[in-house]
Amino acid sequence: MNKNIYKERRESLSSLIPNNSAIIIPGADNRYRNADSAYAFRQESSFYYLSGFCEASSVMLLVNNNNKINSIIFVPEKDKIKEIWDGYRAGPEGVVSDYLFDLAFNNSDLDKEIPALIQGKQKLFYSFGKDQEFDKKVINWTNKANSIERHSKSIDMVDSTSLIGNLRLIKDNHEIELLKKSCEISADSHIAIMKSIEPGNTEQEIEAKYLYEFAKRGSRFAAYTPIVAGGENACILHYVENSQTLRDGELILVDAGGEYEMYASDITRTFPVNGKFTKEQLEIYNVVYEANQKAISAVIEGNNIMEPQKISEKVIVSGLVNLGILKGDPDELYNAGAHKEFYMHKVGHWLGLDVHDSGDYMEDGDFMSFKPGMVTTVEPGIYISSSSNVDEKWKGIGIRIEDDILVTESGNLNLTEKVPSDPKEIEALMS
Ligand code: GLY
Ligand code: MN
Ligand code: MN
Repeated sequence: MNKNIYKERRESLSSLIPNNSAIIIPGADNRYRNADSAYAFRQESSFYYLSGFCEASSVMLLVNNNNKINSIIFVPEKDKIKEIWDGYRAGPEGVVSDYLFDLAFNNSDLDKEIPALIQGKQKLFYSFGKDQEFDKKVINWTNKANSIERHSKSIDMVDSTSLIGNLRLIKDNHEIELLKKSCEISADSHIAIMKSIEPGNTEQEIEAKYLYEFAKRGSRFAAYTPIVAGGENACILHYVENSQTLRDGELILVDAGGEYEMYASDITRTFPVNGKFTKEQLEIYNVVYEANQKAISAVIEGNNIMEPQKISEKVIVSGLVNLGILKGDPDELYNAGAHKEFYMHKVGHWLGLDVHDSGDYMEDGDFMSFKPGMVTTVEPGIYISSSSNVDEKWKGIGIRIEDDILVTESGNLNLTEKVPSDPKEIEALMS
């Protein structure tokens, strides 16, 4: 792998902070599900973005020293016994030679080294509020640095969340290739399962099939816990119990995406368990499908993130009025937010190393404008639970269609288009 990519990203980030300032970025620690059973380690996304380094409990310090950039990293120390049990460690020497850092220490030296390294700096950037224990360490190191020299100006602490988030918001070519591959793996997995699903399968069995299809194509982990929701379970937006049996005549909503080389994909398809939509299911589906298609068309440079949002809401209001589910004038219903009973979430979110990726949604007091290199999901839905005050025939229908869209110089690219969302194509695939 070309480690220069990460070095260049560190330099880009350092060039955004003032002279004589520093930025601290902690990596992830190991986490435990219970007792000493650890979850598979997943590096923190910003740390990975800037290093490509995947050892737990590492910390990065980038220093802009009168424009001489220093990248410093603290890593687990070499330890023969631990390496026999848990695997290779690069150690400080390895991380300098293999990951192109300027300087490295054992992570056991953090308390000793950081105060001296940040002493006299004008500003210290750090993303507060994600880990209270680490927040406390940063404050203690800063206090210690300030106390080294009594007659010095104290260090300003500045939140770095937007700084790093907005750097990650515009994907470079390396990231775009990985996102394309991640989306392709997930798309092929959805297609394989849509072809094989049948009444009597359980949600849990389908979840397992998705994980298998992802893994065999190179995505060992899902980017998030899959939502496999038969029938009315689709109306629970974050349904992850995945414990029921799929019944003939019902729809199934699957929101599942794999993670490929750390990059997420995020696809939702809703399709009939028996391969054929009922009249009512198809009527609601067509409204969501139109909202999805029209909102995707609005994900272009120059539009802001509220364009696809508004379009999807307006299509859904009109569709619900045409079906008699909402009654009244579509514009008035839209202004009153009447559709929010059935479409209560946002149309999308940034996608990248994290499924809900970093990056602001506002800029200069307005909504963020789309720019080439951004990747967003487009995922309108209609959810009619049995407690809704509507005709019985609509109750229990929950539909979402979600695609991943890359903004390009000439428009956009739907990275997940390969999985059919046209209802005729879905029925043909499942027949
Ligand atoms: N899969 C999570 C989401 O669609 O936002
Ligand atoms: Mn999503
Ligand atoms: Mn999703």
